[in-house]
Amino acid sequence: MSLAIGILGTGAYLPERVLTNADLEKLVDTSDQWIRERTGIRERRVAGPDEDVATMGIAACRQALAHAGIDGSELRYLVVGSNTSNYMYPAIAIRIQHGLGLDDKLAAFDLQAGCSGFNYALYVAENLIKNEGGYALVVGTDTNTRMLDFTDRSTCILFGDGAGAVVIGPTDRSRLLASFLASSYNGKLYLKTEFSELNSPFLPKPTPVNNYMYMDGPEIFKFAVRAVQESLRRILAQAGMTREEIDFLIIHQANYRILETGARFAKMPMDKVYVNVDRYGNTSAASIPIALHEALMEGKIKKNHKVILISFGAGVTWAATALEWLS
Ligand code: ACO
Repeated sequence: MSLAIGILGTGAYLPERVLTNADLEKLVDTSDQWIRERTGIRERRVAGPDEDVATMGIAACRQALAHAGIDGSELRYLVVGSNTSNYMYPAIAIRIQHGLGLDDKLAAFDLQAGCSGFNYALYVAENLIKNEGGYALVVGTDTNTRMLDFTDRSTCILFGDGAGAVVIGPTDRSRLLASFLASSYNGKLYLKTEFSELNSPFLPKPTPVNNYMYMDGPEIFKFAVRAVQESLRRILAQAGMTREEIDFLIIHQANYRILETGARFAKMPMDKVYVNVDRYGNTSAASIPIALHEALMEGKIKKNHKVILISFGAGVTWAATALEWLS
């Protein structure tokens, strides 16, 4: 009997530099207490001068390949979800491919789906190898601290940098049970780039604005809570599962209050909902694969556990994956 497609190995990379709430108190009018009470975040990581989305992704991929026990030459695809590339091209995925020594060996490309980037990339990669065979690397990587306005206390306290990766392919280690992707226009969270208009001799010069992330926090909070509720309902129906059958829940690490709400909807105790938002803040597309990697390494996901991955993000996007860990 042919093996189902599942996750064979996971990896994560977090930059060394820690930015604490006390550090942020020196930059903006905020307090450790306010940040902890409203978000659950204590600290986050900041990529160093020699790091970017590609270098972090390479480190996460190396770990995922070692954990999977396969050689890079067996890969057919490398799909990256990210929102913060420092190059328009080459794609982050191609820079990772090169860093892994896999030039000419596979097809690598990026996709952008806000903080749902990893679930989107996983869906696309699964469907590619389902048709064509072989293995794929799926990556989420973001350097959010480079897109934030560190004079805007309502956004700069929320985000951090990091990368996570998984190797997927035919395996008896786990199997992907169901997944969906969704999106809808919502301008309450955006980041506009203007270089194309600035450089064009054919367009009127735009009024310079700062190219920082803008977010209406309370509106995005409401969307996020609805997205978690809707995602849970939809992925359970698709996987033919009940809430009682979920053993472990991984929700995009944006705010501890959103994780608590998700746990309430799922009727699950918080010890079955992964939390690392306190240590890393919101790492966007990297959030889900970092959490999945840590939950596996900490033994929180066990044999025969059914796990749900739920994400929501700018766009807006939302998506979910159901999987079973088999060994
Ligand atoms: N420190 C101190 N006070 C602050 C800070 C801060 N860092 N930020 C805002 N405040 C103040 C506001 O100015 C406001 O003061 P006022 O009442 O005098 O006007 C007060 O605190 C309350 O502000 P709200 O924005 O209403 O606070 P809220 O409880 O909604 O929390 C937060 C704000 C944490 C941003 C919350 O709305 C949130 O988490 N939203 C969702 C964010 C999110 O998940 N984004 C990402 C999702 S998608 C993706 O990951 C890309």
